[in-house]
Amino acid sequence: MAVLLDEKKSLFTLYTRNSMYQMKVDNLGVLLHTYYGKRTEIIDYSYLISWKDRGFAGNPYQAGNDRTYSLETLPQEYSCFGSGDYRASALKIRYHMGARALELRYVRHEILEGKYGIPGLPAVYAQEGDRADTLVIVLKDDVSGVFVYLYYGVMENLDVITRAVRIENRAENSIFLERALSMCLDQLYGSYDFLTFYGKHEMERKLSRAHIHHGVQSVGSVRGTSSHHYNPFMILADRSATETQGNCYGFSFLYSGNFLAEAEYDQFNQTRVLMGIHPDNFEFELKPGEDFWTPEVAMVYSDAGFEKMSQAYHHAFRNNLCRGKYKKARRPVLMNNWEGTYFTFTGEKLVQMAKEAADLGVELFVMDDGWFGKRDSDESGLGDWYVNEKKLGCTLAELSDRIHELGMKFGIWFEPECVSEDSDLYREHPDWAFIIPGRKPMRGRYQLVLDFSRQDVRDHIFAQMCEVLDNAKVEYLKWDFNRSISDVYSAVLPADRQGEVSHRYVLGLYEFLEKLGRRYPDMLIEGCSGGGGRFDAGMLYYTPQIWCSDDTDAIERLKIQYGTSFAYPVSTVGSHVSACPNHQTGRVTPLDTRATVAMAGTFGYELDPMKLTAEEKVQIRQQIATFKNYYDLIQDGKYHRLTNPFVDEVYTVWEYAAEDGSEALMSVVATKIYANEASIYVKLRGLKEDRYYLLNGERYLGGALMYAGFRMPEATEEYQSWNFHFVEEK
Ligand code: GLA
Repeated sequence: MAVLLDEKKSLFTLYTRNSMYQMKVDNLGVLLHTYYGKRTEIIDYSYLISWKDRGFAGNPYQAGNDRTYSLETLPQEYSCFGSGDYRASALKIRYHMGARALELRYVRHEILEGKYGIPGLPAVYAQEGDRADTLVIVLKDDVSGVFVYLYYGVMENLDVITRAVRIENRAENSIFLERALSMCLDQLYGSYDFLTFYGKHEMERKLSRAHIHHGVQSVGSVRGTSSHHYNPFMILADRSATETQGNCYGFSFLYSGNFLAEAEYDQFNQTRVLMGIHPDNFEFELKPGEDFWTPEVAMVYSDAGFEKMSQAYHHAFRNNLCRGKYKKARRPVLMNNWEGTYFTFTGEKLVQMAKEAADLGVELFVMDDGWFGKRDSDESGLGDWYVNEKKLGCTLAELSDRIHELGMKFGIWFEPECVSEDSDLYREHPDWAFIIPGRKPMRGRYQLVLDFSRQDVRDHIFAQMCEVLDNAKVEYLKWDFNRSISDVYSAVLPADRQGEVSHRYVLGLYEFLEKLGRRYPDMLIEGCSGGGGRFDAGMLYYTPQIWCSDDTDAIERLKIQYGTSFAYPVSTVGSHVSACPNHQTGRVTPLDTRATVAMAGTFGYELDPMKLTAEEKVQIRQQIATFKNYYDLIQDGKYHRLTNPFVDEVYTVWEYAAEDGSEALMSVVATKIYANEASIYVKLRGLKEDRYYLLNGERYLGGALMYAGFRMPEATEEYQSWNFHFVEEK
C-alpha cells in the first residue's frame, strides 16, 4: 500500500516512486498539510510548522486561550471560507440560515485498494500491473450538515497523485455550493515561480513564467471551455528550476469547462495553490441527501526539473487516461481536406484527392466541415446533421465506399454542440440554444451554442449523428467546437439553478462522448475547438488526440507544440503538414520541415494533393515512410525539449529517446539564419553514457553527446530541418 497511516500521530503519508505527500489530523480535528516533495523515510513532517501568536490572526473557539493556533497561518489540507482562514479558499457553501462559514473536522478515513473513479467525469485509472491505492478522508461541519470526502489516488509507479472531492449534504435543507475547488495545497515556505500556459486562437499554450508575489495570482477560463487563452495546467517551481534541475510541481485539471488555477503568497511567505471549477456563475444546489463530485486534479512532483515532470504526465496520460482502441493501436496517417478545399468541394473532388493521397501512402481520408445540411459557408447549417447529397453528388455510403476501395479509411467532421440560426434545427427548437429570455444572444462565428446540459437536446443530436454514422463506414470523427460560450441559460432549469448550467453542460458533453465511444468503439475520435481551444486532460479521456491548433505554420507550431509538451504527450497532439505559403501566416517553409514538425504529433496532411508537384510527391512518400519507421520511438519514447523556441533563436531542437536509451531521434529546425554564425551545440539526453551510438557511419559516445553536445548543422536554406537517428552500437 502506498498509503500509510500512523494512528498514534494521526498521520497520513502517501508516496509514489519519487514523491511523498503528508497530512496530519491535529488535536482539534483539523486536517493539516505537512509535506509534499521528494520521497524520504517516513517521519512526522509537522515539525516544520511554526506555532506562534500572530497579530490579528483569529483563534478557533476550541483552541481555548491558545493564541498560537490559527487557521490563518496553519497549512490547511482543504481550506474553507468564513471561519478564520482569510486566504483564498477551496470551499464556500451557503447553508440553511444563509451563512457561509464552515469548520471542517476529521471524522474518519478509508484506505482502498485501486484507484477511485468519478461518476460522469474523467479520471486517471490504474492498469494491470500498476500500483494504485485510494485514500478517502471524511470531514464534516456540524452546523451546516456538510460532509466532505477528500479523495487521493496514489499511483505509485506512475509518480502521480490525484485529488478530487465529494461534497455531501446531510442537512434537512438544501445547501448551495458557491466555490467547490478540487484541491488546495499549502507550501510552508519557498520562493516559487508560477508557470502557466496562455495564448489565443492560432497560438495556444505559450509558457508564462513569473515569480510568485504577495497576493493572489491566477489564470482560468469563464468561456465554458478550457479555452485557447489559458490551459488548465500549471506548474509551481523553484525559481532556479530548469528542464533538468530543481523542484517542480505540476497540476493538471481533468476538466474541459470553466476553471480557476490560483496561487496565493501570503503574509508569512507561504504559498497556497488552488485548482477547480471557476466560481464565477457557479452555484450548485444540493438537496438533502445529494452529493457533488469535483473534477480531478493530477499532480506530479519532480526533483529534477520540468522534463521529469512532463515525462511522468506523458506516460500517465497516454496509458492511464486515454482509452479505447487507439490508445495503443497505431494511428493512421491522415489527409484532411479543410485547408485543401475549405467549403468548396464535391464528392468527386474528394475522391480525386483521396486517390492522390492513397498513392502517397496516406491511410485515412477525412472530410471536414461542409458535407451536411445547408453548409457552404460558416453562416448556416450547424445542427442539421444530414448528408448534403446534392453537394456531394452521392450518398455518404457511396463516398465512403469509393474511399475504402482505394484502401483507405474514411472520417468526417461534426460540431455537435453548436447550431446556426439558419438551420432547420434552430427554426424548430430555438429554445435549445443558450439564449437569455429578452436578450439577443452573442454570436460567435455566426453560431449559437446548444444547451448540452439538456438530455433531450443531446439525445436529438446523438440520434442524428447515429443516423449518419450507421449508414456509412466511418472510422474517424473530428469533434469540433468553434466558439466561446456566453448567454448561459437553460430553459428547463428554474431561476435559482442557473448557476449549475455551465457544469451540467460539461457533464452532458462527457456523457455524450462516452455514449458515442461505446457505440463506435473502433472509431478514432479527435477533439478540436477552433484548433486547441479545448486541449485539456479532461477531453483526452474521451478523445485520444486533439487538433493542437488552427495554426499549421511549422515555425509557429514549434512554439505551440513546445508549450503543449509540458503536460501532454506527442500521441495526443494533432499535427498536419499544410500547403505553402502557409494560410495563417503566409510563411514559406520547406516541405520536409513541415513534416519534421508534424511528426511530433499524430501526423497527417491538410492540403490539396492535386496541387503537389512530382518532386513534392516523392518527398511525401518518403516522409510517410520515415514517420512509420520511427512511429514507436516517437510515440512511446521519452520526449526531451532540448531548446526553448521562445529563447533560442537559431535552432529548435527536441528528441525522442527510447525508454532503455538504445536509440534516439533528434529533430532540429533552423529558425533563423545569420551569416558567419558561431557554432551552436546542443546536448542530448536519455542516452547511455558509456555506450557508442552510430549516426551516418560515425561513432559517438553517449556521454559525449550528453555532456559535450552535438554541433548543429549549418542551414543552407531558410527553415531547414534535420532528423538525426542515433542507434546504440551492438
Ligand atoms: C475549426 C477547426 C478546423 C476546421 C474548421 C471547419 O476551425 O479547428 O480544423 O475543422 O473548424 O469549420
